[in-house]
Amino acid sequence: MLDDPNIGPVVVSEDKLQARITELGEQITSDYQGRAPLLVGVLKGAFVFMSDLARAINLPVEFDFMAVSSYGSATKTSGVVRIVKDLDLDLTDRHVLVVEDIVDSGLTLAYLRRNLRARGPASVEVCALLVKEGLQKVDPDLRYVGFRIPPEFVIGYGLDVAERYRNLPYVCTYLGEGS
Ligand code: IMP
Ligand code: MG
Repeated sequence: MLDDPNIGPVVVSEDKLQARITELGEQITSDYQGRAPLLVGVLKGAFVFMSDLARAINLPVEFDFMAVSSYGSATKTSGVVRIVKDLDLDLTDRHVLVVEDIVDSGLTLAYLRRNLRARGPASVEVCALLVKEGLQKVDPDLRYVGFRIPPEFVIGYGLDVAERYRNLPYVCTYLGEGS
């Protein structure tokens, strides 16, 4: 994979990812003291981040997953979102922490937040690993952010192009077609 010409320069290194996730975990542990937050991972992209983040949180956490699909081209979202896999758990009175890989336009998150709020949770907050600078069409209102990055298409650490590259341990730019 290292000789793949589509793998561009590193945007966030493995060391930086792990150091920041440790900090986020400490912050979440202190903010949710005495509570058992329900981490809601947005599949598929968030699965790598969620697994590292969860192990940095020193609280009794529970997990659920949702899969959404946005209509659009391979590297751009259209804002039209469809739930492909819904949650298994009831959100009534739960402290929900949505774990997202990347916020681009913010449209996916805006849709998710509206959808989750309607289910009667005690709170809904968002932890996004990456936020692309200057691209949000709606205020994403993010409680926790890992890194703000330039508005380029990136891959790795859960992020894909046509299901590839999710297993890269760092985040880098994508040099291939459509980027
Ligand atoms: P938004 O609705 O425009 O904020 O797009 C959010 C979703 O689009 C993310 O959850 C990703 O699945 C995908 N996405 C946005 N930007 C990138 C990127 O640079 N690399 C890989 N996936 C991306
Ligand atoms: Mg994706």
